[in-house]
Amino acid sequence: MTSLALTDIVNNVQVLPVLTVTSPSQAVNLCQALYQGGIQAVEITLRTEAALAALAQVKQALPQLIVSAGTVCTPEQVNQVADIGVDFGVSPAATANLLNTIKDRGLPFIPGVATPSEAMFAAELGFNHAKLFPATAVGGLKLLKSLAAPLPHLKFCPTGGLNQENFIDFLQLPNVFCVGGSWMVDAELLKAEDWNGIAAAARRVTDALEG
Ligand code: 3PG
Repeated sequence: MTSLALTDIVNNVQVLPVLTVTSPSQAVNLCQALYQGGIQAVEITLRTEAALAALAQVKQALPQLIVSAGTVCTPEQVNQVADIGVDFGVSPAATANLLNTIKDRGLPFIPGVATPSEAMFAAELGFNHAKLFPATAVGGLKLLKSLAAPLPHLKFCPTGGLNQENFIDFLQLPNVFCVGGSWMVDAELLKAEDWNGIAAAARRVTDALEG
């Protein structure tokens, strides 16, 4: 079962690669490469048939890595990923049904929001950390700056449209605790199983955090 509290996660995770995997073995190799590149946490999305088995195998193979399940959209999926023992879950959205199931399961979770009302809705149910999705499409840096004054208690993980050139700008905002995205894994390198190339690209991301 999961042992990390959401506060441990939000205090330690600054970048969250969003992964879509085709097999458990690909997922393990990919996560190993990312970990070698200094990545502390990953989000494996429930967008492929392999995702649940991949989550279970990555959790087992890399106990030092923080492993989240992404694209969690239904109560059934909440229960499935909680049963696997993922460290936390992420959703692109926040429905009452979803958030109530998450609270019942006690799974650390980052729901998705795109507007001030959605952020306040999630906060009313106890979720003060949310994914801003799709971040650049709904206003990006400008929206986050605008949310900071009226909603200072809410912190965001912008995801959607971020890249190597802009992610540090997002992380510098006081109401951003983490950034996410698929840009950290190049699709061609993944297809070619170029694990060294993926590790080197991850290192460029983690080096930028220190710079
Ligand atoms: C997600 O699920 O978080 C998004 O697909 C990531 O968006 P990106 O591909 O633009 O990074």
